[in-house]
Amino acid sequence: MQRAVSQVTNMNSNILITGGCGYIGSHIALLLKKQGFKIIVIDNLSTGHRDNMLEEVIYEIGDIADNNFLAAVFNRHPVDIVMHLAAKTSVEESIQHPELYYEENLLNSINLIKVCGQQAVKHFIFSSTAAVYGETTQPTVHENQNLYPMHPYGKSKYITELALSHFAQQYAMQLTILRYFNVAGHDQSLRVGNFNRKSGALIPLICRHIALNKFSITVNGNDFDTPDGTCVRDYIHVMDIANAHSMAITCFYSSTQQKNLILNVGYGKGLSILELIQLINSLSDLPLCYTIGNRRNGDIPYSVADNTLIKSLAWTSLFQNPYKEIILSEIAWNKKLYKI
Ligand SMILES: NC(=O)c1ccc[n+]([C@@H]2O[C@H](COP(=O)([O-])OP(=O)(O)OC[C@H]3O[C@@H](n4cnc5c(N)ncnc54)[C@H](O)[C@@H]3O)[C@@H](O)[C@H]2O)c1
Repeated sequence: MQRAVSQVTNMNSNILITGGCGYIGSHIALLLKKQGFKIIVIDNLSTGHRDNMLEEVIYEIGDIADNNFLAAVFNRHPVDIVMHLAAKTSVEESIQHPELYYEENLLNSINLIKVCGQQAVKHFIFSSTAAVYGETTQPTVHENQNLYPMHPYGKSKYITELALSHFAQQYAMQLTILRYFNVAGHDQSLRVGNFNRKSGALIPLICRHIALNKFSITVNGNDFDTPDGTCVRDYIHVMDIANAHSMAITCFYSSTQQKNLILNVGYGKGLSILELIQLINSLSDLPLCYTIGNRRNGDIPYSVADNTLIKSLAWTSLFQNPYKEIILSEIAWNKKLYKI
């Protein structure tokens, strides 16, 4: 059951979403469109999908590395707020091809914020990740703690955060950095979604297996320093991520003193892989079995948000039981994707 989404002011704002044909960007577009915003999406469709395009949203198909394309887009549309999601997102690929991650994630972001500064964009919202924290000794991570990202994907996001804060200051632009934890689930309408059939993220992978009637998965390592030996993660529903963007807009317009924000976006609660499998088994008709495999490169025991800061800004989950919504919507989406 989904709670009502809070109402936002300043519907006249024009919002540009980069990566708005991707999994998370399309959910943000879906929510903000419902709230009445004017939305422009830039996407090069490298991992995004045309079926994620929505009516009444303007789509500009092109690459954020292309300055002529960006100039033309900004000439055609006034933009107040930019939500920057376009990026490469695979940890494994980043270990094999780190150069791609610094080019696509760092250099493209610098390129984009420079254009935004020249175009007098007021607010830049950057999609960062819990991977910037790396391995920590604390059970939850606070925004202020030191960052030790473990792989090129996390490092590229970390360095991008630093670079963006310099450029935002230079252009007197408000910067909000949202560090997402483990995003999963779909909007209940299943109108948009994750078309990446090879996603190695755990919940999409398990739900894909269930949709395809395969009932065994490999758990990567059970010798981590956690209560049951498997990794503990803070899984969060994609619509709660979308709602954090909506909240960032509200904060921007309601605050008299603009100051940059860095916010963890997670529930502040961890589930181990074995707990997750148990939960999924309690919600699906068919039991999922597992075997224990090797650890993957770059995996850490805990990744759980200290979410005190974002909760103090009146962000809360849209769901009474978010885990149930995540799992049921993810299975339903995979059944739709594979036409089962
Ligand atoms: N999925 C997660 O669990 C998660 C967790 C933390 C952070 N994030 C961040 O959220 C953002 C979105 O992730 P996602 O899971 O929706 O990935 P995704 O691959 O589904 O979406 C990325 C979108 O950006 C587009 N894109 C990529 N490079 C581009 C470029 N140069 N120019 C224009 N468009 C380009 C792709 O076509 C795609 O539509 C990323 O920045 C990612 O780092 C995701």
